[in-house]
Amino acid sequence: MTILDVATIPGDGIGPEVTAEAVKVVDTAAEKFGFAVKWTEFPFGAGYYLKHGRGLPESAFRDLADFKALLLGAVGDPRVGPGPLEREILLALRFHFDQYVNLRPALSFPGVPTPAPFPPGEALNAVIVRENTEDLYMGLGGSGEGSFRIELVADRGLYSLKGAVDLHFSPPVAAGFSIGLMSRPGIERIAGYAFALARRRGEKTVHAVSKANAVPHLYGFWDQCVRETAARDYPDLELKFVNVDAVCYLMARRPPGWGVVLCPNLFGDIVSDLMSALAGGIGLAAAGNIGEGLSMFEPVHGSAPDIAGTGGANPLAAILSAGMMLEHIGEKEASAAVENAVRAYLASDGGKPIELGGDAVTARVGDAVRRALLRS
Ligand code: NAD
Ligand code: IPM
Ligand code: MN
Repeated sequence: MTILDVATIPGDGIGPEVTAEAVKVVDTAAEKFGFAVKWTEFPFGAGYYLKHGRGLPESAFRDLADFKALLLGAVGDPRVGPGPLEREILLALRFHFDQYVNLRPALSFPGVPTPAPFPPGEALNAVIVRENTEDLYMGLGGSGEGSFRIELVADRGLYSLKGAVDLHFSPPVAAGFSIGLMSRPGIERIAGYAFALARRRGEKTVHAVSKANAVPHLYGFWDQCVRETAARDYPDLELKFVNVDAVCYLMARRPPGWGVVLCPNLFGDIVSDLMSALAGGIGLAAAGNIGEGLSMFEPVHGSAPDIAGTGGANPLAAILSAGMMLEHIGEKEASAAVENAVRAYLASDGGKPIELGGDAVTARVGDAVRRALLRS
């Protein structure tokens, strides 16, 4: 029997609650389809950080490299405050393993009400292809007062970067800055991924999100590289650039019909939460961070400290992320069965997740999906 080695980082807040359900659903799928998963849990999150003063030990990168895939719940804790856990764990893993694709399907489900009406007979079946290693997420920048110099250092799979910025303000005001940076190879690989996906899905058009009107050095360069990649390698596809502000407006007005939505890192972050709301809830939105090495699957949502411990966390996003993971590691039948089980559960009369107006707490939702999986 195939035994798949999978790592988990349950993390903080609702992370462990939703990850536990995803693990149970995967184990049920494994039993049904004749394989097994050997889970190895890593304790990274607020508890580890408060004890050791860092998000990850150096050894984590070596240890994790041995796994087929990584399933992550969420990190982030009010005791630590915004930033350290997210950057030192989540972003550090995305960057270290050069997971340059953040793949975020935006799907509506029968039985789940949506806040904006859909044209009759239409469903939301888009996929956000978010660049995952560059843009304003590079971590380049700093703050100071008057005259100051900030060293810039970054390591990516594609390159390492060294430099510095000298700033002189008169009068000597205090200021902070972040550099958004995108490289031609970084843009070409994510654009190529989005175009290839669009072809596989039979799409004629790809939407590329931008803001070249206001931020030309960064997003104008993005537009240029995206356009050239399309013209060179995918001349059969129509490419439509849409400014990020207009995208938010147009998506809210008419959620269906977007197909593949190619986004720079920051806009992709924002557009995914918007799309998740339009699909009915962030507790349904799955994601995969995909690269050539270790890939990492996690819900779009965060650790939701406001509902941690209440049973209000919807585990379906984590379950669907685990389903994406199964496809990635070659268990395609099991992956499809997990998504179908979620669909069957949501379409049934059984208690819906609390997030969707029902009364089913986290573990009950997970159990209902497992029952649907066994029935299928
Ligand atoms: P969040 O996604 O955690 O929560 C936003 C809202 O959605 C909250 O009202 C929350 O209760 C609700 N929500 C989220 N997931 C839900 C679920 N599964 N079921 C029902 N309701 C759900 O975003 P936030 O409040 O901005 O962030 C909280 C913490 O999580 C922060 O520290 C943030 O940095 C971190 N974060 C981590 C990740 C990650 O690890 N992948 C992603 C996003 C945010
Ligand atoms: C996400 C999250 C992260 C991001 C944060 C926690 C750094 O919001 O995965 O969407 O911005 O990418
Ligand atoms: Mn986000």
